[in-house]
Amino acid sequence: MTSSTPPVAYVTSGLIEDPELSAVLAAFERLGVPAEAVDWRDGSVDWGRFALVVVRSPWDYILDRPAFLAWAEKVAAVTRLANPAPVLERNTDKTYLRTLAEAGVPVVPTAWAAPGDELDGEAGGGFAPWPELVVKPTVSSGARDTVRTTDRAEALAHVRTLTAAGRTAMVQPYLPMVEREGETSLLFLGGRFSHAIRRRPMLSGEVGFEDAVREPDADQLAVAERVLAAVPERAELLYARVDLVRTEDGSPVLIELELTEPRLFLTHLPDGPERLVRAVRAALAG
Ligand SMILES: Nc1ncnc2c1ncn2[C@@H]1O[C@H](COP(=O)(O)OP(=O)(O)O)[C@@H](O)[C@H]1O
Ligand SMILES: [Mg+2]
Repeated sequence: MTSSTPPVAYVTSGLIEDPELSAVLAAFERLGVPAEAVDWRDGSVDWGRFALVVVRSPWDYILDRPAFLAWAEKVAAVTRLANPAPVLERNTDKTYLRTLAEAGVPVVPTAWAAPGDELDGEAGGGFAPWPELVVKPTVSSGARDTVRTTDRAEALAHVRTLTAAGRTAMVQPYLPMVEREGETSLLFLGGRFSHAIRRRPMLSGEVGFEDAVREPDADQLAVAERVLAAVPERAELLYARVDLVRTEDGSPVLIELELTEPRLFLTHLPDGPERLVRAVRAALAG
């Protein structure tokens, strides 16, 4: 490519450090694809000068989702955005899990409480049989505002705190398998499975393992395929991360589908950063 080729924007945040940024920019350079890191909040940027705007680590969007979605619309009006704006809109609110469950995808059992809803932990709340609970907001990342407890009153109090602030709360059974097998993240680049990571649990203390590459089991790959098949824009996804945990009976269930700003664990592989750049190059050609 010549120096007049329009660059790719690697969208990040000025506030939270991205551990993959420098390795991926180096891979862009090695493969001769011009690319620049850009803060999504930088109002002076002319997004139209990029051939492709790749959402990667704008992790502070969680503080202002409406501004982030408005930004995505603005960019999509002047150039190509990956993943596409409608995907970002849907994927930044975990109520998408309910849609996927209704489409037949195995999802962690979840009780939902929108602002104004009352959950009754013993009866109507749907979580009476669960010995330990996780309560989280539908708009979150990095386990922000997430509580793990066996105390129903504490769980309900956190639900009320979230809904009183105008947020939707989700209540799930705590899945203890995250401490033994870990959470399995399956990474897809350009629509194809790339690699999988065994991840440390975020809501428990010491465990005997770190995030590391693992071979996914056949049932995990099959569930991940079902999850992606339920995404209308599947063919347009540049990147996707399917996070699975096993329930006590051993079956993998979806805990999160990350189509917005997943950490891709590229630096865990010798050629991980190049894999993303190759997927970008294919998207540019397509
Ligand atoms: N129901 C659950 N059982 C066990 N661990 C959970 C559960 N829900 C969340 N966690 C832990 O909290 C982390 C963050 O929750 P997650 O639903 O992935 O939201 P986000 O990553 O967007 O904050 C997970 O990676 C997992 O370690
Ligand atoms: Mg997660």
